[in-house]
Amino acid sequence: MNAPARPSRPIAHDSVSRAFGAAHGYDRHAPVQHRIAQGLARRIAALDLAPAPAVFEFGCGTGFLTQALLAETALASPQARWRVTDLAPAMLARCHERLGPRANLQLSTLDAEYAEPEDGPFDLIASSLALQWFDDPLAALARMGGWLAPGGHLMVTTLGAGTFAEWRAAHTALGLEAGTPPFLDARRFAALAGAQVRVEPIVEHPGSARAFLRALKAIGAGTPRTGHRPLAPAELRAVMAQFERNPCTATYEVVTIHLARPSEPETPALRPDTQPSRPDPR
Ligand SMILES: C[S@@+](CC[C@H](N)C(=O)[O-])C[C@H]1O[C@@H](n2cnc3c(N)ncnc32)[C@H](O)[C@@H]1O
Repeated sequence: MNAPARPSRPIAHDSVSRAFGAAHGYDRHAPVQHRIAQGLARRIAALDLAPAPAVFEFGCGTGFLTQALLAETALASPQARWRVTDLAPAMLARCHERLGPRANLQLSTLDAEYAEPEDGPFDLIASSLALQWFDDPLAALARMGGWLAPGGHLMVTTLGAGTFAEWRAAHTALGLEAGTPPFLDARRFAALAGAQVRVEPIVEHPGSARAFLRALKAIGAGTPRTGHRPLAPAELRAVMAQFERNPCTATYEVVTIHLARPSEPETPALRPDTQPSRPDPR
């Protein structure tokens, strides 16, 4: 296992796990996340996947993406082998509830940034909206690219630097700083070797600052970045009023990243007496 050293941590993973674990109302409050997972599943279904792929999903949450992928032909094959993981045990339990028992699907708790699943390599690595909670998403993606089988694909969504720009602008206007995670500029992902990146904004109209904050808390996405000073109640009220002074929108800058590992070139046919012994397939 080549787990990386933990750098100084912009996001406390134990707090992230606790917040998502407590998100009993995730499904009710996550229509945007649902829509993003379904769009990602459609894109994954259009890839040239192996007929019965080995799949690794990280940050499965309650299973929006897992369920949408399981509806797709190659991925629905009973011969496909799935490793579905999340940092928060309670999220995995919700995912299990959604999917029910399946012989070819293994659910396990895993911090996908600091631990490696043991059953690789994988034909597909997929994830929706988990990567923005990593300390170093770029290093994690580069490592995961190494977990792909020849001909395999990694396709994930995350949130880019434009996410919640309106909420941050409301803070800045008052000389304050928002506690939102340090969302990366999509160009940083595009600079990864071989990466194809697509950026799509989704603009939500939460109706009020209170509704915006309540929904984030209900889905477990309220963990502030490390070192953020919580606002005093009066400061928070002022930020909320400022947010509502503008059109009261919340933009999700959805970044889809695709890495593909080339297939291995066909070895030329050898004469029977020169055939090497067959290597272990995995
Ligand atoms: C916003 S939810 C998305 C869940 C689901 N993929 C969806 O689309 O609805 C983010 C999920 O990522 C998980 N997560 C965050 N950091 C993680 C990490 N380092 N390793 C694995 N999962 C992580 C959280 O526990 C949470 O369930």
